[in-house]
Amino acid sequence: MTTVLLTGAAGYIASHTWLALQAAGYRVVGVDNFANSSPRVLERLAELAPAAIEFEQADVCDTAQMDAVFARHRPAAVVHFAAFKAVGESVSQPLAYYRNNIGGLVNTCEVMKRHGCMRIVFSSSATVYGSPDQLPLREDAPTSATNPYGATKLMGEQILRDLGAAEPAWQTASLRYFNPVGAHESGRIGEDPRGTPNNLMPYVAQVAVGRRAALSVFGNDYPTPDGTGVRDYIHVMDLAEGHVAALRRLLDQPGSLTVNVGTGQGYSVLDLVRAYEAASGRPVPYEIVARRPGDVAACWADPALARELLGWEAKLDLARMCADSWRWQHDNPQGFN
Ligand code: NAD
Ligand code: WQD
Repeated sequence: MTTVLLTGAAGYIASHTWLALQAAGYRVVGVDNFANSSPRVLERLAELAPAAIEFEQADVCDTAQMDAVFARHRPAAVVHFAAFKAVGESVSQPLAYYRNNIGGLVNTCEVMKRHGCMRIVFSSSATVYGSPDQLPLREDAPTSATNPYGATKLMGEQILRDLGAAEPAWQTASLRYFNPVGAHESGRIGEDPRGTPNNLMPYVAQVAVGRRAALSVFGNDYPTPDGTGVRDYIHVMDLAEGHVAALRRLLDQPGSLTVNVGTGQGYSVLDLVRAYEAASGRPVPYEIVARRPGDVAACWADPALARELLGWEAKLDLARMCADSWRWQHDNPQGFN
């Protein structure tokens, strides 16, 4: 059985990917330091998982801890999710972001190499496209960083390209996620942001469940059909399957890749609000406020390369994203607490 190490394993996307990898027949070992997640995720995963939940509490920046994990479990590949991800916080605390996101990746790769494990799937982001001037976004579109978080994703991709160029034994897959939303269909795991959610769907979910009074819509004067921002929302379980496909490709064929993981379909803030109201049967009151600094008007993927290279495409629509988010939010109004 092929062993896959998941870093950031207790986090939102990794916890869903854990189940998808196990369903695909991989042995999964999770690593997390709970910097932005709850140990309770592991109990929920144990209820849902088809196999044992194997977990090591460790910091990906800690060489001794990571060496011990590799020595114990001998993974054939790593799916590296561990990182900080709040754009605003990265502007005020850039060093924390460079240390954790870049330091964590470099340390993980060094430990991997020492243990002869040279296949890695990396969580990149559509943020690497900066302000897109042409839509849909193809992988060969220009890249740029508009904040330190985005810079860590651009640099992370560059580090992996440089490794592949130095030593062809390295096989790397950078997956540029668009906007992951939704939850596992069981409603037992989902996104559980600490404090006020930065992202749209978790905020909408907390309004629908009554934790917050109203959504602030950041601008309705963008050059989009209804004036609100347009994004490519992707169901977290589709995204999880994208990781399974990328890993399979690295294990089966030589070479490295960088691909978009999106649906190719854009929806506005108000489209999402209406879809959430329909899925939840609850009203989502909102007010229009000023634009959020740094936001782009519209962003959606050309998902053709992922279809071609990975044989993967998104299957779940916006109604399903909202229905699954709502089941999680409704059944767990305070998240994992
Ligand atoms: P998350 O915060 O829920 O998960 C990240 C996990 O990594 C957390 O459990 C956290 O405790 C852990 N972690 C952080 N630093 C660590 C360290 N030094 N050692 C061990 N564990 C550590 O975030 P997520 O939304 O699941 O994102 C996962 C990855 O995907 C991140 O790399 C993020 O940048 C990337 N990404 C997320 C989105 C999004 O919108 N959610 C979009 C694009 C890319
Ligand atoms: C979506 C739309 C907002 C909240 C961010 C990161 C990006 C990536 C995904 C990690 C926009 C609007 C939002 C609210 C609103 N993360 N909005 N009211 O900005 O596309 O991307 O998360 O890599 O790097 O920048 O996602 O969910 O924050 O916003 O009106 O309270 O919803 O203006 O149009 P975004 P988002």
